[in-house]
Amino acid sequence: MCGIVGYVGTRQAAPEVYRGLLRLEYRGYDSVGLAVLNGSSLGVVRKKGKVDAVREEIGGMIGTIGIGHTRWATHGAPSERNAHPLRSGKFAIVHNGIIENYRALREELEANGFVFSSDTDSETIAHLFALYDRGDLRETLRAVVRRLEVSFAIAALCEGAPNVIAAARRNSPLIVGRGETGYYLASDIPALAGCVQTVTVLKNGDMALVCADRVQIFDDRGEVRRQEQVCSLRAETLERGDNAHFMLKEMKETPQTIRNTISNFAERVRLEPFLPLFRKLKKIHLIGCGTAYHSGLAGKLAIERLARVPAEACIASEYRYGDPILGDDTLAIAVSQSGETADTIAAAQLDRESGTPLFVVTNVAHSSMASLADLVVPTIAGAETAVAATKSYNGQLTALYLLAAAIAAARGADAKRAEEELNRYPERCEEALSRLEEVERVAQKFKDAKNVCFLGRGVDHAAALEGSLKLKEIAYIPSEGYPAGELKHGPIALIDGRSLVVAIMTQRRLAEKTFNAVAEVRARGAKIFLITPFEEYARREGVDDCFLLPKCGELFSPVLSVIPLQALAYYTAVARGNDPDRPRNLAKSVTVE
Ligand code: M6R
Repeated sequence: MCGIVGYVGTRQAAPEVYRGLLRLEYRGYDSVGLAVLNGSSLGVVRKKGKVDAVREEIGGMIGTIGIGHTRWATHGAPSERNAHPLRSGKFAIVHNGIIENYRALREELEANGFVFSSDTDSETIAHLFALYDRGDLRETLRAVVRRLEVSFAIAALCEGAPNVIAAARRNSPLIVGRGETGYYLASDIPALAGCVQTVTVLKNGDMALVCADRVQIFDDRGEVRRQEQVCSLRAETLERGDNAHFMLKEMKETPQTIRNTISNFAERVRLEPFLPLFRKLKKIHLIGCGTAYHSGLAGKLAIERLARVPAEACIASEYRYGDPILGDDTLAIAVSQSGETADTIAAAQLDRESGTPLFVVTNVAHSSMASLADLVVPTIAGAETAVAATKSYNGQLTALYLLAAAIAAARGADAKRAEEELNRYPERCEEALSRLEEVERVAQKFKDAKNVCFLGRGVDHAAALEGSLKLKEIAYIPSEGYPAGELKHGPIALIDGRSLVVAIMTQRRLAEKTFNAVAEVRARGAKIFLITPFEEYARREGVDDCFLLPKCGELFSPVLSVIPLQALAYYTAVARGNDPDRPRNLAKSVTVE
């Protein structure tokens, strides 16, 4: 949530910062702003809306040192008034995170004569810089950071220090990149791809003074060294090419994500030290938010079926304030595309503190969550830019299925067949992806549905929840995912002639049962879109449209059945004139509580 960028070097800063902000737009697009220092004069531009709102202005911003911000509003409405950079005296700052003690700070600063010109928590940081300024930027930064609770990544410019960006992080990510013409700062590595040769991931509590030719990193105790790594991310992989949207491009990258996740798991994930743990396990918690929670639901079913260990999928924001039963015979698996989701990090911390072994399934190996883990299980999805998670979900499922098979094998079960079955999914997904125009037609037909109900049992229910989340977040149509047998206990009251019911049916033994629910909603006027590999059901009376899945096994089918569901959400959003990559009110990486 919120993206920050900085550049200091020999080039004009504004275009460098602007390019980075475009890449960070997935973190929020309520407002945008840049500050550039020209000698000892600060130029600031701020606008409501997406990053390209400042495109016209950047040519007029002269100076080789600058910072920028793209906002997802927490405190204060999305408006120019609340856009960053925020100023106080000689300082301009950008901030990602939430200053939880901002009310007390604001009162104190107002008592000291500072006048607030925004409704943000972040403005307190700018005024603290001015309050503690004694002419030594490093000391000012230390004094400011000591006052801030709890989450922040900040970058600041000072008119008295024309060659340096001051930066700091705690519980929000910040990366330093070294390029040929200078140094960069950003909330995430993709913002820097193509501009830098190396990246350094700052750790919690780190502060930095970033100049054109060097960077000094320190914490409360003094200077620290952080590992500088080669940045191998290629800028071309971040382009959407011929695809109309990133979401479509990313859906098409699903087969490769599954293949890469499987081969990386075989080659790089070292499970030997955990085999004794696998044998003694009494319980597994799968923790995540949104799509990652839905992966956990499907993962739970696979773990229980294959490894016969009781498993529970947990919503991270509930788990962290609940009273979960933890211990060294429980395994916690935190699932997160970004590895920066605040609630999931807090849940993972709870596990760590209680001595519960912690695995992290993530797409970002250098993320804050990964740094907490006893074992990182990477999903190799590549950068995911669209706010709606697609290929990363398939990657998470793949990783969880592989873990389920490994735990099963360690406990003496035969997991070979399951692994072989998983290897067949990339091809099946390719086949489904080659027929997306069928889903596009369905989306056109039902784009004005009053509500959409996704039905399924077991693994199909897990997929139904994900299909419903996708539709809500980008098509803005009220929708729910329900276990097929549960509908008649209340939700069927919502069904009428303007409802669409999407039924997912991949398990032969449950097909007829699920179809009973289809018949019940059909009798009440709903239109039916069926997703199944069973051809005979496609021809059943009452089915308006059917997407015939390639033949597949039952346990891992969400990897495949989610493809028409993602496509339904995508094409419905497009048909309704929405931007599927940047849905309203959302940001991809939810780094605040
Ligand atoms: O980065 P994470 O996987 O931790 O993100 C969790 C959710 O915020 C995320 O899955 C969200 O629900 C997606 N926008 C869904 O498409």
